[in-house]
Amino acid sequence: MARQRIAVIPGDGIGGEVIESARAVLDAVSTRHSTDLEFTEFDWSCQRYERTGAMMPADAIDTLRDFDAILLGAVGWPGVPDHVSLWGLLIPIRRAFRQYVNLRPIRVFTGVSSPLRNATDVDFVVVRENVEGEYSEIGGRLNRGFPEEMAVQESVFTRAGVSRIADYALELAKTRRGYVTSATKSNGIVHTLPFWDEVVAERAAIHPDVRVDSEHIDALAAKFVLQPERFDVVVGSNLFGDILSDLAAAVAGSIGIAPSANLDPTKHYPSMFEPVHGSAPDIAGKGIANPVGAVWSAAMMLEHLGHTSAADDVLVAMEATLANADTRTADLGGHASTTEVTDALIAALP
Ligand code: NAI
Ligand code: MG
Repeated sequence: MARQRIAVIPGDGIGGEVIESARAVLDAVSTRHSTDLEFTEFDWSCQRYERTGAMMPADAIDTLRDFDAILLGAVGWPGVPDHVSLWGLLIPIRRAFRQYVNLRPIRVFTGVSSPLRNATDVDFVVVRENVEGEYSEIGGRLNRGFPEEMAVQESVFTRAGVSRIADYALELAKTRRGYVTSATKSNGIVHTLPFWDEVVAERAAIHPDVRVDSEHIDALAAKFVLQPERFDVVVGSNLFGDILSDLAAAVAGSIGIAPSANLDPTKHYPSMFEPVHGSAPDIAGKGIANPVGAVWSAAMMLEHLGHTSAADDVLVAMEATLANADTRTADLGGHASTTEVTDALIAALP
């Protein structure tokens, strides 16, 4: 396969520490699989904002356009408002590159204790619609300051948008256990969610080999806690997917291991891979950040770029490292440093 180019944005705080670890694991696994990845690092961050007044340069999107993928650490730092770091970097990248799938795999690994008593065999994926739905900019405020003050926010569900996210979930289920759960609330929300259900059912009919259940979001949230092992692929709108994916990450045990991908499945634009956690100012610079979330995100990037066996090897190394108490970081109750976990991951590559 030809050389692929990766844009690396370490960002702020522990972002740099976990990305260094992910890079080391990527280098080791790439050598074994003769995968040709070229990395270009960008210093876009809150530090840059404080120096120049912008999180990233004006032509950043054009710069990123030519890359095959983007690997991001975390952005955000005390002193810079969070909406500045979010709207100055993450959101523009997701929207400009039509990353309409937000993918979050959830697993309870041996050695990582879930807050749920009997959580074993938990292995599912939340597929969140990432560019429309409830998070639209359509709406407004009226009569500010008067008793009749009001706010209106429109949800936008399009046939194209719902079809492509449903198709993505159905195709993904075929590579797994063949079961999709669609999050809905068509009993209470009478226009958009019945439409969501209809379109999901239409797409499901084209994939008769996949079993599809529809569940109301309230009952579904309860089942995430009571029976997390029953899920395989869960698909939801932007808002439902956002909430379900954080709930699911909590079920899995630690935010330090949770990965995510923002995908343009058409591969027309670069997709972006990032751990779920933020820049963790409380532990930044101490060398104790858990690198597994960033490493798992890097494995998802390998998979997206077509290097499935390299990605599988990284998962095997993660399982071995998490299973051993000596190679767990403090957030998992261990004592290992970021570097020690990184070395262990590399040593555990098959
Ligand atoms: P956070 O995820 O940075 O930290 C929450 C807690 O989890 C902290 O106690 C932290 O020490 C711990 N933690 C997080 N990642 C860890 C890891 N890899 N290993 C060990 N412990 C870990 O969330 P917080 O504190 O709400 O946000 C801090 C900054 O990060 C803010 O500026 C926020 O806006 C930003 N942020 C950025 C995100 C992104 O870049 N996608 C996502 C979430 C927050
Ligand atoms: Mg969220």
